[in-house]
Amino acid sequence: MTAPLIDPFARAITYLRVSVTDRCDFRCVYCMSENMTFLPKKDLLTLEELDRMCTTFVNMGVEKLRITGGEPLVRRNIMSFFNSMTRHLNSGALKELTLTTNGSQLHRFADDLYAAGVRRVNISLDTLDDEKFAKVTRWGRLKQVLNGIDAAQKAGLRIKINAVALKGFNEPELPKITEWCAERDMDLTWIEVMPMGDIGNEDRLDQYWSLKDVRAEYENHYSVTDLAERTGGPARYVRLEETSQKVGFITPLSHNFCESCNRVRLTCTGELYMCLGQEDMADLRGALRDHPDTEQPLENAIRTAITLKPKGHDFDYSRQAVDGRMSRHMSHTGG
Ligand code: GTP
Ligand code: 5AD
Ligand code: SF4
Repeated sequence: MTAPLIDPFARAITYLRVSVTDRCDFRCVYCMSENMTFLPKKDLLTLEELDRMCTTFVNMGVEKLRITGGEPLVRRNIMSFFNSMTRHLNSGALKELTLTTNGSQLHRFADDLYAAGVRRVNISLDTLDDEKFAKVTRWGRLKQVLNGIDAAQKAGLRIKINAVALKGFNEPELPKITEWCAERDMDLTWIEVMPMGDIGNEDRLDQYWSLKDVRAEYENHYSVTDLAERTGGPARYVRLEETSQKVGFITPLSHNFCESCNRVRLTCTGELYMCLGQEDMADLRGALRDHPDTEQPLENAIRTAITLKPKGHDFDYSRQAVDGRMSRHMSHTGG
């Protein structure tokens, strides 16, 4: 292994999120517009190139690999990529291989993912109501995702549900979603909606449900204790004493967690984004494609990119306006 990746703020970069496709079979309202233009297929890194990229990062100290999209499981032949990453788990270099998915294809892939060494999946699910689900995902069907969750649990995968907190939308479902996760022994994390993509500012402010308020809502139903533990992700956790359940909050807006950031994001075309909420990126594709026989130029390009990692994002909804917004869609960088 070469020297570890340390950014200018002394943060060790050990977590790589890889978006393997910008395509998705859903069109969630806070993520995509209904008529998305996707990248031409020729711009995508091949699965072999993705392997070279990830392997280089693993050799540089990345211990956690999260595969995202778009929807990662709609990429053709994606299981061969997971299977090729298994060798880094077997060697001990990689501690975790995981994915964030909308769950729509899990019924097909759950067993294969487990066999490849995946033990945990994060599934995005904002509501348990059929009609609301169809509304927020535009193209999704709740039943299919629930089948996927069944298959994943049967395969032995541990599940975390990610729910984007949307004011006036899933607000009334908070106890129901919470109890459903407790019954099925799944973790639950709420996420504040971030200003990404070309959705109107008014809409975003309308949707924004501060997790301070979500927490207050929990206190109306449960005894809530703050927990000190961290999982290497940005979530902070509380325990609900009545159910002994752990609930996470990802609060980019109401509490900035950038000081402990350990991650960078690779897109499906080989751009490395040093922060979800900033435009800074380094194009690694050239360093990879122009040098098929050596990873040295790629390693150099990665090291240079890490020296440019910014201190944090600038998302801000104060003063009744949306600041720090990103024109990039979430599906581009994979959340
Ligand atoms: P674990 O802690 O391993 O379960 O995963 P995670 O929370 O890092 O991954 P997940 O894909 O579940 O992340 C959930 C969501 O949190 C992402 O899709 C983003 O919306 C948000 N998020 C994750 N990391 C960051 C970050 O570095 N900055 C910001 N602003 N948001 C993030
Ligand atoms: N703000 C917050 N979370 C978002 N996600 C997608 N778009 C946004 C947004 N604008 C979430 C999805 C999924 C993860 C990949 O990112 O719900 O859980
Ligand atoms: Fe697809 Fe996830 Fe975006 Fe929804 S949030 S459109 S499931 S990539």
